[in-house]
Amino acid sequence: MESQQEQPLIGESPVFLEVLERVSRVAQLNRPVLVIGERGTGKELVAARIHYLSPRWDRPFVKLNCAALAESLLETELFGHEAGSFTGAVRRRLGRFELANEGSLFLDELSNTSERVQEKVLRVIEYGELERVGGNDTILTDVRIIGATNEDLPALAEEGQFRPDLLDRLAFDVITLPPLRERPEDILPLAEHFAVKMSGELGLDLFQGFSERARNLLMDYAWPGNVRELKNVVERAVYTALGDERPIADIVFDPFDSPWRPRPATADEAADGASWAPGKPYDFKQFIQDREIDLLKAALEQCRFNQKKTAEYLGMTYHQLRGYLRKYELTDAE
Ligand SMILES: Nc1ncnc2c1ncn2[C@@H]1O[C@H](COP(=O)(O)OP(=O)(O)OP(=O)(O)O)[C@@H](O)[C@H]1O
Ligand SMILES: [Mg+2]
Repeated sequence: MESQQEQPLIGESPVFLEVLERVSRVAQLNRPVLVIGERGTGKELVAARIHYLSPRWDRPFVKLNCAALAESLLETELFGHEAGSFTGAVRRRLGRFELANEGSLFLDELSNTSERVQEKVLRVIEYGELERVGGNDTILTDVRIIGATNEDLPALAEEGQFRPDLLDRLAFDVITLPPLRERPEDILPLAEHFAVKMSGELGLDLFQGFSERARNLLMDYAWPGNVRELKNVVERAVYTALGDERPIADIVFDPFDSPWRPRPATADEAADGASWAPGKPYDFKQFIQDREIDLLKAALEQCRFNQKKTAEYLGMTYHQLRGYLRKYELTDAE
């Protein structure tokens, strides 16, 4: 995998360019910085950019996801431990703060830290001091903290879930990444970028481009998973179109989308089930027809209303499908 130092930050919307400018400015400061944004907006990439643009660029850039570890493990990961400090601690182990000395420490999802860890982090920020778990010596470090979260830290601080004094210190500068839906100008350049990269990975000489319809689909989607979701959708589209030299026309947003996807029973289905009860009149024909209509509609949608594909998808001939569509007056759904 290429290092984050080499990964370009793509985007040309005014809001994104503004963020890039702030990133360059904040990189020069020797102060903590917070990167905030919805999932998949590029927080980790921006944190790396801050480090590599900073005067610390040739020193370590160390990362830790605070949500991935239980409290006691997080503490030893961050601050290290002395030999014999707990069962299994055979040797002294340096924590991420010491490993990041003179460089930057990226604390991801830092809203998920305990009171105790927050207190120790605050002390490192204020005095550059820490003690390893099980140790008495005070160790001096010089680390720049870059924190990231997709949570509302001020609200958490108000609820007593996050130390307000730590928040104050961390938030010397705050960079908030806008969600993708707020910067539509970035969608197609990002899509093109990921498509070209994916084509290269698949050994193709060039990327065949997106059809107008595909571009419209990409532009009209809300991207709740932001850039990460866009990357996945585009890579899947390039991969699916492998061997086809025409511009990409099909975009699948939800790979789980299928008429046969197992679903939890809905209230409606439960009611249907109840009408199976013996002794009750039951309209068998209507029941089957309703199921047929549901299936046809879902398949049409899945195949983006391409009838040839829909027929293939349903294992019937084109003429059979046309027959069904006429029977149920679904031909409008084109
Ligand atoms: N502006 C951008 N240009 C190019 N690639 C980007 C950009 N923004 C994000 N990406 C890519 O999108 C993916 C998600 O980005 P990243 O991991 O930085 O998001 P995040 O905000 O940290 O997400 P999470 O909150 O889920 O941890 C990564 O593959 C990253 O390389
Ligand atoms: Mg992240």
